[in-house]
Amino acid sequence: MGAVITGWGKCVPPAVLTNTAMTEFLDTSDEWIVTRTGIRERRISHVGMVDLATVAAQQALAAAGYKAAEIDCIIVATASADLLIPNAASRVQLQLGNSRAAAFDTNVGCCGFVYALAMANGLITTGVHDRVLVIGAERLTPIIDWTQRDSAILFGDGAGAVVVEGGAADEGVLSAFLACDPVPGESLMVRDLGMSAGHERIQQPYDLSFDGREVFRNAVPGMASAAELALGRADLTVADVALVVPHQANLRIIEAVAKRLGVDPELFATNLQRYGNTSAASIPLALTEALEEGRVAPDSVLLFAAFGAGLSSAACVLRWGDRVTPLGESSATLVECDMSARELLSPALDFQQNWNATH
Ligand code: UT7
Repeated sequence: MGAVITGWGKCVPPAVLTNTAMTEFLDTSDEWIVTRTGIRERRISHVGMVDLATVAAQQALAAAGYKAAEIDCIIVATASADLLIPNAASRVQLQLGNSRAAAFDTNVGCCGFVYALAMANGLITTGVHDRVLVIGAERLTPIIDWTQRDSAILFGDGAGAVVVEGGAADEGVLSAFLACDPVPGESLMVRDLGMSAGHERIQQPYDLSFDGREVFRNAVPGMASAAELALGRADLTVADVALVVPHQANLRIIEAVAKRLGVDPELFATNLQRYGNTSAASIPLALTEALEEGRVAPDSVLLFAAFGAGLSSAACVLRWGDRVTPLGESSATLVECDMSARELLSPALDFQQNWNATH
């Protein structure tokens, strides 16, 4: 039996923060950000990641033709859970109105969705679960230091989700490669976002340690070799791949991975121009938009490749099924928001600016 994606959906919050809007509080320019990253704008959420995840999940369920109660496992890939106890997946489960599924989170930064998809594949093909909802959702903006131009321009909020279920043996997830090298892990780390934070966190901003060049240096070989190893495990080559859905960190990283793999960059689905890096949400969000744009052909081979905190790397090869259109659509939406992205950011930015001025 193969584990096939039969439903897909996304949720992006409405408030848009353009590069130009960022020049009001950062020493940067639209030209620098576009040239160095490809990013033009990102979304800032007015709700928690569980709400983003729930709406994306409702869209994915409608696309697959299932009610929430028909799902027997929910995996949420996130590094920005609203709560740690209990996990985000159980909160999404509650909002969906499902009271029987297994529910757990995977925290592997930007690789979280690919890891979670590999878990779903294992659970389905070993008969543990029949229908798994795999969600990538992030609300990273509260963690960002909005006064640091090298990292603040990169990230955004959003969610994507897929329904995975048993299908024909030659369809669905064909292989995966998952890895992590912790040695360069400090190049992308939030030092006090956890139990080590103690009480002080309330009085000070998060301590984000970020070395973009180091992450970049590791990202290109990491993503490319994960992709090659996953393809090898599926007994396929890049020539078999019809569409690559990469993690959306930086257009230059994606172009370098395409070059290293010898794949036409046109075969890569990208939407980071509009959303920036949404970490674990980026691949299901880009996959959903690729489907909306008619870029996924029935029975074609897809490659997902990611790189992120850890530093982790991951890739997954799958053969799509025969249906590339949703069975239905959900009317689920987020609660309305009348605040601008800049207004939503103000508390965090003011807090950080005051902290910087006094320390
Ligand atoms: O998904 C996993 C997480 N993703 C990542 O961590 C992303 C990986 N890294 C990157 O995408 C890139 O390294 C960045 C986009 C973060 C930076 O691009 P870069 O080409 O590696 O720039 P750089 O760090 O080498 O900086 C070049 C210059 C520096 O100035 P000097 O030292 O040459 O005078 C920076 O201070 O650009 C400056 N700079 C900026 N200038 C304007 C850095 N950020 C900005 C900015 N606006 N936003």
